[in-house]
Amino acid sequence: MYHIVLCFAAALVCSSCRAASVNKHLKLLPELENSIEGNGLPTKHSPARRFLSLTKRPHATHAHAPGALLSLTCEALGAPAPAVRWFKNDAPVYEHDTESIEQIDINPTSLARVSSTLLVTRTEDTDEYTCLASSGKKVVRASTIVYSTAGVTPDKTERSKLQPFAPRILVTYKAFVDTIGNSIVLPCKAKGHPRPRVTWKDNNGTFVTRDTKRMKVLRSGELVISSLLWSDMGEWTCQAANIFGTKTASTFLYPALVSRMKQPATEIQSSVNT
Ligand SMILES: *[C@@H]1O[C@H](CO)[C@@H](O)[C@H](O)[C@H]1NC(C)=O
Repeated sequence: MYHIVLCFAAALVCSSCRAASVNKHLKLLPELENSIEGNGLPTKHSPARRFLSLTKRPHATHAHAPGALLSLTCEALGAPAPAVRWFKNDAPVYEHDTESIEQIDINPTSLARVSSTLLVTRTEDTDEYTCLASSGKKVVRASTIVYSTAGVTPDKTERSKLQPFAPRILVTYKAFVDTIGNSIVLPCKAKGHPRPRVTWKDNNGTFVTRDTKRMKVLRSGELVISSLLWSDMGEWTCQAANIFGTKTASTFLYPALVSRMKQPATEIQSSVNT
């Protein structure tokens, strides 16, 4: 992790490189330095340069009007890349999608800022929702109380779930860092009715198709990139579309050099130029 951070710093110095937007995107990771400093400088005895923090949490309370779609969002920054799960009154909220990021091994060398949104369609009186972010053995959580503006709702049908609605993108990485050469998975979990179709565009704005080498869009919407290259750096965009609309979300991808030793900026520079 520490080495990845060093590479970040080196990349910041290299302001003329082709990924000129790096500076802008590094602002997505403002807590990075703090997290590192907060944990103290890594030592030989703490090889796990791991950290986890919630960077966005829902308000303490939310009012929910009957029939409305309430979205609760949590954002977590951590290394390795955190996974976010949701609980309603302490019971896990299961999503219908079985193909999800949880099923895929998370590279221990990864770092991500993940955004996870839960859509609340129905509230009876008062419910407590909790988002739980985990990264390795670390866990952080935040809770919110959702109360119905109508008090106890007499209508207990699940009709609202079946109503058609435009796509919403629920789970994405705002930023993702992993080591060059690794295979990575970028989530793009979308919801909508009918089920939205997810497509991805690469860092040059080109659609990823079946013929794209090293890349594959899974049925779940996740993008798999095998053997990450330095030239993959940049903003990747997923798009979810159904007949009612289209939503996009982008992930800033940073392929990092990792070595046992401090990476000299010159090496970074030379790999930029190749
Ligand atoms: C985007 O364009 C650059 C410059 O031509 C290239 O090096 C890079 O491989 C392209 N990205 C992808 C994912 O193909």
